[in-house]
Amino acid sequence: MASKRLRKKIFLTTALVFAGLCFLIKWTSVGICLFCQTKSEDIFLKRDSGHFLLLPHLDCSQNPPFLVALVTSSPTQLKVRVVIRKTWGKKKIIANKLIVTYFLLGTTLNPEAQVAVINESLKYGDIIQKNFIDAYYNLTLKTMMGIEWIHKFCPQSSFVMKTDSDVFVNTYYLTELLLKRNQNTRFFTGFLKLNEHPIRQMSSKWYVSKNEYPRNTYPPFCSGTGYVFSTDVASLVYNISDNIPFVKLEDVFIGLCLAELNIKLENLNSKQTFFPEGLEFSPCRFKKIVTSHFVRPHELLIYWNALERSMDEKCPGG
Ligand SMILES: *[C@@H]1O[C@H](CO)[C@@H](O)[C@H](O)[C@H]1NC(C)=O
Ligand SMILES: *[C@@H]1O[C@H](CO)[C@@H](O)[C@H](O)[C@H]1NC(C)=O
Ligand SMILES: *[C@@H]1O[C@H](CO)[C@@H](O)[C@H](O)[C@H]1NC(C)=O
Repeated sequence: MASKRLRKKIFLTTALVFAGLCFLIKWTSVGICLFCQTKSEDIFLKRDSGHFLLLPHLDCSQNPPFLVALVTSSPTQLKVRVVIRKTWGKKKIIANKLIVTYFLLGTTLNPEAQVAVINESLKYGDIIQKNFIDAYYNLTLKTMMGIEWIHKFCPQSSFVMKTDSDVFVNTYYLTELLLKRNQNTRFFTGFLKLNEHPIRQMSSKWYVSKNEYPRNTYPPFCSGTGYVFSTDVASLVYNISDNIPFVKLEDVFIGLCLAELNIKLENLNSKQTFFPEGLEFSPCRFKKIVTSHFVRPHELLIYWNALERSMDEKCPGG
């Protein structure tokens, strides 16, 4: 028995080292080349900027998901991903519909952290990764990677959600509302921002120079903390994204694409359901929302368990 376990351990270690080597070879030979001149245009490529380094274990043509949730996350956020996998991001069937969650990651220059990501991907098979530095100002690249992945690997799904790792998502209510709404093409929803302006103070996290974005108003867009669209929109956005001037704020960039495609943003429900500012938790309140922002991992676990426990209980007002 002991030798069998040892053999298994040796096998797993070898597999991991092998995967790491494959990754390094791939990493240095495609996209940005670290050991030769860096092609500056690569940084601005929104699509087709190299191969996918890591892909989920999934064949979308078999049993296509109703909803694919894509979560922007960074290599070091393993703990958060573990909690999301146990809570709202757990693969499940709601109202006979398959709901799956994948994580969008860039790369890190720390080889140990990268090996840990490969390890995690081997274990869970839910990581989508391409070769760009994982940084806040590369969020547009990360979002476009998700859109490209849907276009190429999961066009059979019905809806896509893009959200962040500090967001609580009520996938039950989202599925219920999407089914009720039944608008399966050119649909885009979330927390609508219809009258936003670029922030020109350099100290702001959202600072955008006149050079990057000359106009004084943003197009309508949905808060990047959580938006949902019919899967056809992914292909439409992917197709035109190269013609859209690059803006590092991913939600604004998607807004520019939607304006070009003449796709209007819509509310999912008559009452507000997306909360980019966050919301105090109560099971009854959270039953009737889709997203709440600024949720820490331990809170996520508590909220989700409380929500699931109270699923069949009545709440005041229905
Ligand atoms: C790989 O994952 C296992 C758990 O699946 C963990 O115990 C191990 O420390 C990880 N190795 C690395 C290099 O992250
Ligand atoms: C975004 O990724 C590219 C490609 O890896 C890298 O050259 C660039 O420095 C990154 N941007 C930031 C702000 O880190
Ligand atoms: C892709 O975009 C081009 C314009 O850039 C348009 O002419 C073409 O019809 C689009 N194709 C699809 C499949 O949307």
